Amino acid sequence: MSQPVSGFSKKTKDEKIDWLISSYLNNDSDSRNVLKQYWNNDKKLQKLHDGFIENTVSNYYLPFAIAPNFLINGALFTIPMVIEESSVVAAASNTAKYWLERGGFKAEVISTTKNGQIHINFYGDDEAIQTFFSKIKSTLITCISEIEKNMKKRGGGLLDIVLINATDSLEGYYQLHCTFETNDAMGANFINTCLEEIAKTLESRSKLHADFISKNEFPEVVMSILSNYVPECLVSAQVSCPVEEMSTNGMDGKTFTSRFIRAVKIAKVNKRRAVTHNKGIMNGIDAVILATGNDFRSVEAGIHAYASKDGNYTSLTDAKIDNGNFIFSIEIPLAIGTIGGLTALHPLVNFGLSLLQNPSAKKLMQIIAVAGLAQNFAALSSLVTTGIQKGHMKMHLANILNNLDVTQTDTVKALAHFKDHAVTHGSVADFIKQLRK
Ligand code: MEV
Repeated sequence: MSQPVSGFSKKTKDEKIDWLISSYLNNDSDSRNVLKQYWNNDKKLQKLHDGFIENTVSNYYLPFAIAPNFLINGALFTIPMVIEESSVVAAASNTAKYWLERGGFKAEVISTTKNGQIHINFYGDDEAIQTFFSKIKSTLITCISEIEKNMKKRGGGLLDIVLINATDSLEGYYQLHCTFETNDAMGANFINTCLEEIAKTLESRSKLHADFISKNEFPEVVMSILSNYVPECLVSAQVSCPVEEMSTNGMDGKTFTSRFIRAVKIAKVNKRRAVTHNKGIMNGIDAVILATGNDFRSVEAGIHAYASKDGNYTSLTDAKIDNGNFIFSIEIPLAIGTIGGLTALHPLVNFGLSLLQNPSAKKLMQIIAVAGLAQNFAALSSLVTTGIQKGHMKMHLANILNNLDVTQTDTVKALAHFKDHAVTHGSVADFIKQLRK
């Protein structure tokens, strides 16, 4: 039974490992080796990774892959993807090739405004806080001049502050809703620093306001934080092609597109399907978000909230036929960056961004939206034709064979055999056992 530990973060990495191996793993030396085998021999690189978070004891590898042939607004991209799910990159590459032969992807950034809120308690007169706000708004804006100096030089900064009376939803609840342009930076730290400064100024100035003093009712800041819901930071992407040129997996274009559009309509109206449909989209989005050092949790949270912006959780993609053309599109919010944060620190992130020709945040928004659309296209194309398991099982089989250390000759035999036999770990292991006899 382990004991509570104090001062843990101050222990060395080896001391931390000693503690956890003796407390939880019966002093098992194999467990220690599992952790250590992922340490990097390059001490400087290891130190860099150790420093990203607290209590690092090892590195957790995920494959870093590339999906070539993405034609986006007339330019060719090879997209870096970090993901563990076996079929995702293959699907992205196949879809890129499919659309390369049909004019490629078009993508467009619709808006780039980010936002944050200062959440306030105020139980006094609405008129008093409104008057106070109109008097100090310019001070609230100028109090962050020093913080936003560099951002302003790059054309960004605070855009506006609005006082919102939210007492309908919660008694005494007001908000300062602040909007920002952060250019190529994701801007989380910048926004939060601005918000905290504005909040401090608001509270200190309120102590001097006569209306508040006379009633002894002052606004009190509860918290100041950016929002990961960014419906004003939007990007769209689409593909289109004459229906007759859309034959897929042996199915003619007319049948395929009609079944495809039906699948999207189902995801539009049915929440259970919509969630899985959007999960497939996130397979592409998260993989590029990770490869480019962005925050996948904020992107996930923001996108799923956007999927329910009209009250029902629904598909993020749309499909239709217009004038004989199949049109498939996506619209998503994306608050991401190509400078600052991990982008400058992580060598592989740096590599991923170089591979994308060091894109602006706007360009990266377009690439990520395309990756999401492509992944959804791949999933639906399989689902409405051959079914999803054929492709999945092929990759699954490859992984199992790899895991069983199968020779090249036996791999060829196994691939032939499992073309028409069900793949499970047991069935593959049995088959290989027979071959080895
Ligand atoms: C699996 O990771 C993703 C899919 O389930 C997506 C979908 O059903 O559209 C195949």
